Amino acid sequence: MTSIVDVQPPGYTSSYLADQHAGQLARLRTLERAFDPLSHAVFDQLALAGKPAILDLGAGAGSLAGWLSRRYPQATITATDIDARFLTDIPGIQVLTHNAVTDEFPPAAFDVVHARALLCHLADREEVLTRAITWLRPGGWLVIEDVSLEPSLRTANPLFRKVAQAGITLLEQSIGSDMLWASTLADRLRDRGLANVRHRTLEGRIGDNSPADTFWASTTAQAGPALLKLGLLTQEDLDEMTHLRADPAFTDAALTFVSAWGQVL
Ligand SMILES: C[S@@+](CC[C@H](N)C(=O)[O-])C[C@H]1O[C@@H](n2cnc3c(N)ncnc32)[C@H](O)[C@@H]1O
Repeated sequence: MTSIVDVQPPGYTSSYLADQHAGQLARLRTLERAFDPLSHAVFDQLALAGKPAILDLGAGAGSLAGWLSRRYPQATITATDIDARFLTDIPGIQVLTHNAVTDEFPPAAFDVVHARALLCHLADREEVLTRAITWLRPGGWLVIEDVSLEPSLRTANPLFRKVAQAGITLLEQSIGSDMLWASTLADRLRDRGLANVRHRTLEGRIGDNSPADTFWASTTAQAGPALLKLGLLTQEDLDEMTHLRADPAFTDAALTFVSAWGQVL
Protein backbone atom coordinates (compact mmCIF):
# COMPACT_ATOMS: atom_id res chain seq x y z
CA MET A 1 0.00 0.00 0.00
CA THR A 2 1.38 3.43 -0.95
CA SER A 3 1.62 5.96 1.84
CA ILE A 4 0.63 9.48 0.89
CA VAL A 5 3.61 10.83 2.85
CA ASP A 6 5.81 9.25 0.15
CA VAL A 7 4.13 11.47 -2.41
CA GLN A 8 3.68 14.87 -0.76
CA PRO A 9 4.14 16.43 2.67
CA PRO A 10 1.06 16.12 4.87
CA GLY A 11 -1.07 19.18 5.49
CA TYR A 12 -4.57 20.53 4.99
CA THR A 13 -3.79 22.78 2.01
CA SER A 14 -2.29 19.98 -0.09
CA SER A 15 -4.96 17.43 0.86
CA TYR A 16 -8.16 16.22 -0.77
CA LEU A 17 -10.06 18.43 1.73
CA ALA A 18 -8.37 21.67 0.65
CA ASP A 19 -10.15 24.71 -0.71
CA GLN A 20 -8.95 24.34 -4.31
CA HIS A 21 -10.99 21.16 -4.62
CA ALA A 22 -14.05 21.71 -6.85
CA GLY A 23 -16.49 20.36 -4.27
CA GLN A 24 -15.00 22.13 -1.27
CA LEU A 25 -17.42 25.07 -0.92
CA ALA A 26 -20.44 22.76 -1.10
CA ARG A 27 -18.78 20.44 1.44
CA LEU A 28 -18.08 23.34 3.83
CA ARG A 29 -21.76 24.36 3.53
CA THR A 30 -22.80 20.86 4.65
CA LEU A 31 -20.52 21.21 7.69
CA GLU A 32 -22.02 24.62 8.46
CA ARG A 33 -25.60 23.32 8.24
CA ALA A 34 -24.76 20.52 10.67
CA PHE A 35 -22.62 22.49 13.14
CA ASP A 36 -23.96 26.07 13.10
CA PRO A 37 -26.94 25.40 15.45
CA LEU A 38 -24.57 24.01 18.10
CA SER A 39 -22.18 26.97 17.72
CA HIS A 40 -25.05 29.46 17.99
CA ALA A 41 -26.22 27.81 21.21
CA VAL A 42 -22.71 28.11 22.68
CA PHE A 43 -22.42 31.83 21.89
CA ASP A 44 -25.87 32.36 23.39
CA GLN A 45 -24.40 31.13 26.71
CA LEU A 46 -21.49 33.60 26.78
CA ALA A 47 -23.36 36.81 27.67
CA LEU A 48 -20.99 39.05 25.69
CA ALA A 49 -21.48 42.73 26.43
CA GLY A 50 -20.31 46.03 24.94
CA LYS A 51 -18.22 45.90 21.79
CA PRO A 52 -16.42 42.57 21.93
CA ALA A 53 -13.54 41.72 19.64
CA ILE A 54 -14.18 38.21 18.28
CA LEU A 55 -11.73 36.08 16.30
CA ASP A 56 -12.95 33.16 14.17
CA LEU A 57 -9.81 31.18 13.36
CA GLY A 58 -9.90 29.00 10.22
CA ALA A 59 -13.31 30.41 9.34
CA GLY A 60 -13.78 28.38 6.15
CA ALA A 61 -16.79 29.59 4.18
CA GLY A 62 -17.73 32.04 6.92
CA SER A 63 -21.33 31.25 7.90
CA LEU A 64 -20.48 31.53 11.58
CA ALA A 65 -18.52 34.78 11.15
CA GLY A 66 -21.49 36.24 9.24
CA TRP A 67 -23.89 35.11 11.97
CA LEU A 68 -21.63 36.66 14.64
CA SER A 69 -21.70 40.03 12.86
CA ARG A 70 -25.52 39.96 12.87
CA ARG A 71 -25.77 38.58 16.42
CA TYR A 72 -23.34 41.21 17.83
CA PRO A 73 -23.70 44.31 15.62
CA GLN A 74 -21.39 46.33 17.92
CA ALA A 75 -18.64 43.73 17.82
CA THR A 76 -15.48 43.61 15.73
CA ILE A 77 -15.41 40.25 13.96
CA THR A 78 -12.11 39.03 12.52
CA ALA A 79 -12.34 35.94 10.30
CA THR A 80 -9.06 34.24 9.34
CA ASP A 81 -8.11 31.33 7.16
CA ILE A 82 -4.95 30.00 5.57
CA ASP A 83 -6.96 30.21 2.33
CA ALA A 84 -9.51 33.03 2.53
CA ARG A 85 -11.08 32.54 -0.92
CA PHE A 86 -14.56 31.78 0.45
CA LEU A 87 -14.60 34.66 2.97
CA THR A 88 -15.81 37.21 0.45
CA ASP A 89 -19.03 39.20 0.41
CA ILE A 90 -19.79 38.68 4.10
CA PRO A 91 -20.90 42.03 5.51
CA GLY A 92 -19.54 43.25 8.83
CA ILE A 93 -16.41 41.12 9.13
CA GLN A 94 -12.69 41.73 8.72
CA VAL A 95 -10.93 39.02 6.74
CA LEU A 96 -7.30 38.06 7.21
CA THR A 97 -5.20 35.41 5.49
CA HIS A 98 -3.45 33.90 8.49
CA ASN A 99 -1.81 30.57 9.28
CA ALA A 100 -2.88 29.55 12.78
CA VAL A 101 0.29 27.46 13.20
CA THR A 102 2.87 30.09 12.25
CA ASP A 103 1.24 33.53 12.38
CA GLU A 104 0.65 35.49 15.57
CA PHE A 105 -1.79 37.99 17.05
CA PRO A 106 -0.80 40.50 19.72
CA PRO A 107 -1.35 39.35 23.32
CA ALA A 108 -4.79 40.13 24.79
CA ALA A 109 -6.26 41.26 21.47
CA PHE A 110 -9.66 39.49 21.68
CA ASP A 111 -12.63 38.87 23.96
CA VAL A 112 -13.44 35.61 22.18
CA VAL A 113 -11.25 33.26 20.16
CA HIS A 114 -13.27 30.63 18.30
CA ALA A 115 -12.02 27.75 16.16
CA ARG A 116 -14.24 25.05 14.66
CA ALA A 117 -13.20 21.92 12.77
CA LEU A 118 -9.68 23.35 12.59
CA LEU A 119 -7.51 22.03 15.42
CA CYS A 120 -8.29 18.35 14.76
CA HIS A 121 -6.56 18.86 11.38
CA LEU A 122 -3.43 20.60 12.72
CA ALA A 123 -0.50 18.42 13.80
CA ASP A 124 0.52 21.30 16.13
CA ARG A 125 -2.97 21.54 17.67
CA GLU A 126 -1.75 21.59 21.29
CA GLU A 127 0.65 24.48 20.64
CA VAL A 128 -2.01 26.43 18.72
CA LEU A 129 -4.43 25.97 21.62
CA THR A 130 -1.85 27.32 24.07
CA ARG A 131 -1.03 30.33 21.83
CA ALA A 132 -4.71 31.11 21.22
CA ILE A 133 -5.18 31.60 24.96
CA THR A 134 -2.49 34.32 24.96
CA TRP A 135 -4.55 36.24 22.38
CA LEU A 136 -7.41 36.58 24.92
CA ARG A 137 -7.99 39.44 27.36
CA PRO A 138 -8.74 38.67 31.01
CA GLY A 139 -12.37 37.53 31.13
CA GLY A 140 -12.20 36.43 27.49
CA TRP A 141 -13.57 33.13 26.20
CA LEU A 142 -11.84 30.39 24.24
CA VAL A 143 -14.44 28.43 22.25
CA ILE A 144 -13.14 25.30 20.53
CA GLU A 145 -15.40 23.05 18.49
CA ASP A 146 -14.37 19.92 16.65
CA VAL A 147 -15.56 16.67 15.14
CA SER A 148 -14.82 13.24 16.61
CA LEU A 149 -15.27 10.14 14.46
CA GLU A 150 -15.07 7.88 17.51
CA PRO A 151 -18.74 6.70 17.25
CA SER A 152 -18.14 5.27 13.78
CA LEU A 153 -15.45 2.92 15.14
CA ARG A 154 -18.03 1.37 17.49
CA THR A 155 -20.40 0.34 14.70
CA ALA A 156 -21.47 -3.31 14.47
CA ASN A 157 -21.57 -3.04 10.66
CA PRO A 158 -18.27 -4.36 9.18
CA LEU A 159 -18.53 -2.33 5.96
CA PHE A 160 -19.23 0.94 7.73
CA ARG A 161 -16.38 0.20 10.18
CA LYS A 162 -13.99 -0.45 7.27
CA VAL A 163 -14.97 2.79 5.53
CA ALA A 164 -14.75 4.77 8.79
CA GLN A 165 -11.30 3.38 9.63
CA ALA A 166 -10.08 4.11 6.10
CA GLY A 167 -11.27 7.71 6.37
CA ILE A 168 -9.52 8.18 9.72
CA THR A 169 -6.29 6.67 8.33
CA LEU A 170 -6.43 8.92 5.27
CA LEU A 171 -6.97 12.02 7.40
CA GLU A 172 -4.04 11.03 9.65
CA GLN A 173 -1.67 10.30 6.76
CA SER A 174 -2.57 13.09 4.37
CA ILE A 175 -3.24 15.94 6.82
CA GLY A 176 -1.95 14.92 10.25
CA SER A 177 -5.50 15.01 11.63
CA ASP A 178 -6.54 13.38 14.89
CA MET A 179 -10.21 12.56 14.48
CA LEU A 180 -10.58 11.30 18.07
CA TRP A 181 -9.01 14.38 19.74
CA ALA A 182 -12.30 16.27 20.10
CA SER A 183 -13.50 13.83 22.76
CA THR A 184 -10.87 15.25 25.15
CA LEU A 185 -11.53 18.94 24.44
CA ALA A 186 -12.92 20.00 27.79
CA ASP A 187 -9.93 18.45 29.61
CA ARG A 188 -7.53 20.29 27.26
CA LEU A 189 -9.07 23.60 28.32
CA ARG A 190 -9.03 22.71 32.03
CA ASP A 191 -5.38 21.56 31.76
CA ARG A 192 -4.51 25.07 30.57
CA GLY A 193 -6.08 26.70 33.62
CA LEU A 194 -9.21 28.08 31.98
CA ALA A 195 -12.13 28.74 34.32
CA ASN A 196 -15.83 27.98 33.92
CA VAL A 197 -15.12 25.23 31.39
CA ARG A 198 -18.23 23.67 29.88
CA HIS A 199 -18.92 21.47 26.91
CA ARG A 200 -21.77 20.22 24.76
CA THR A 201 -21.91 17.38 22.27
CA LEU A 202 -24.28 16.41 19.50
CA GLU A 203 -24.32 12.95 17.94
CA GLY A 204 -24.37 12.88 14.15
CA ARG A 205 -25.78 9.81 12.39
CA ILE A 206 -25.58 8.49 8.85
CA GLY A 207 -28.43 6.99 6.86
CA ASP A 208 -31.08 9.32 8.28
CA ASN A 209 -30.87 12.23 5.79
CA SER A 210 -29.83 14.55 8.61
CA PRO A 211 -27.37 17.45 8.10
CA ALA A 212 -24.68 15.24 9.70
CA ASP A 213 -25.47 12.48 7.20
CA THR A 214 -25.08 14.93 4.30
CA PHE A 215 -21.77 16.22 5.72
CA TRP A 216 -20.47 12.66 6.15
CA ALA A 217 -21.48 11.69 2.61
CA SER A 218 -20.03 14.84 1.06
CA THR A 219 -16.68 14.37 2.84
CA THR A 220 -16.50 10.66 1.99
CA ALA A 221 -17.28 11.40 -1.67
CA GLN A 222 -14.54 14.05 -1.80
CA ALA A 223 -12.11 11.58 -0.18
CA GLY A 224 -13.07 8.77 -2.58
CA PRO A 225 -10.25 9.16 -5.15
CA ALA A 226 -7.58 9.41 -2.42
CA LEU A 227 -8.99 6.38 -0.59
CA LEU A 228 -8.82 4.37 -3.82
CA LYS A 229 -5.36 5.65 -4.78
CA LEU A 230 -3.88 4.63 -1.44
CA GLY A 231 -5.60 1.24 -1.55
CA LEU A 232 -7.47 1.96 1.68
CA LEU A 233 -10.79 1.04 0.01
CA THR A 234 -11.95 -0.48 -3.28
CA GLN A 235 -14.55 0.94 -5.65
CA GLU A 236 -16.74 -1.97 -4.57
CA ASP A 237 -16.46 -0.86 -0.92
CA LEU A 238 -17.51 2.68 -1.87
CA ASP A 239 -20.43 1.46 -4.01
CA GLU A 240 -21.63 -0.90 -1.26
CA MET A 241 -21.37 1.92 1.30
CA THR A 242 -23.54 4.13 -0.93
CA HIS A 243 -26.17 1.37 -1.08
CA LEU A 244 -25.96 0.77 2.67
CA ARG A 245 -26.46 4.45 3.46
CA ALA A 246 -29.51 4.53 1.14
CA ASP A 247 -31.04 1.42 2.76
CA PRO A 248 -34.07 2.58 4.80
CA ALA A 249 -33.27 -0.12 7.37
CA PHE A 250 -29.78 1.30 8.05
CA THR A 251 -28.78 4.17 10.28
CA ASP A 252 -25.86 4.39 12.69
CA ALA A 253 -23.93 6.84 14.86
CA ALA A 254 -21.07 8.27 12.80
CA LEU A 255 -19.58 11.24 14.59
CA THR A 256 -19.82 13.66 17.46
CA PHE A 257 -19.84 17.44 17.16
CA VAL A 258 -18.08 18.69 20.30
CA SER A 259 -18.07 22.26 21.65
CA ALA A 260 -15.97 23.24 24.68
CA TRP A 261 -15.47 26.69 26.10
CA GLY A 262 -13.68 28.28 29.02
CA GLN A 263 -12.65 31.65 30.36
CA VAL A 264 -9.32 33.35 31.01
CA LEU A 265 -9.38 34.91 34.49
C1 LIG B 1 -13.05 21.86 8.01
S1 LIG B 1 -12.83 23.54 7.58
C2 LIG B 1 -13.78 24.35 8.84
C3 LIG B 1 -14.21 25.75 8.46
C4 LIG B 1 -15.03 26.50 9.50
N1 LIG B 1 -14.30 26.70 10.72
C5 LIG B 1 -16.33 25.82 9.80
O1 LIG B 1 -16.43 25.13 10.82
O2 LIG B 1 -17.28 25.98 9.02
C6 LIG B 1 -11.17 23.88 8.09
C7 LIG B 1 -10.69 25.24 7.66
O3 LIG B 1 -9.42 25.47 8.26
C8 LIG B 1 -8.58 26.09 7.33
N2 LIG B 1 -7.18 25.83 7.70
C9 LIG B 1 -6.46 24.69 7.55
N3 LIG B 1 -5.24 24.84 8.06
C10 LIG B 1 -5.17 26.10 8.57
C11 LIG B 1 -4.16 26.85 9.23
N4 LIG B 1 -2.94 26.32 9.47
N5 LIG B 1 -4.44 28.12 9.61
C12 LIG B 1 -5.66 28.67 9.36
N6 LIG B 1 -6.65 28.00 8.73
C13 LIG B 1 -6.42 26.73 8.34
C14 LIG B 1 -8.96 25.48 6.00
O4 LIG B 1 -8.55 26.29 4.91
C15 LIG B 1 -10.48 25.39 6.15
O5 LIG B 1 -11.13 26.55 5.70
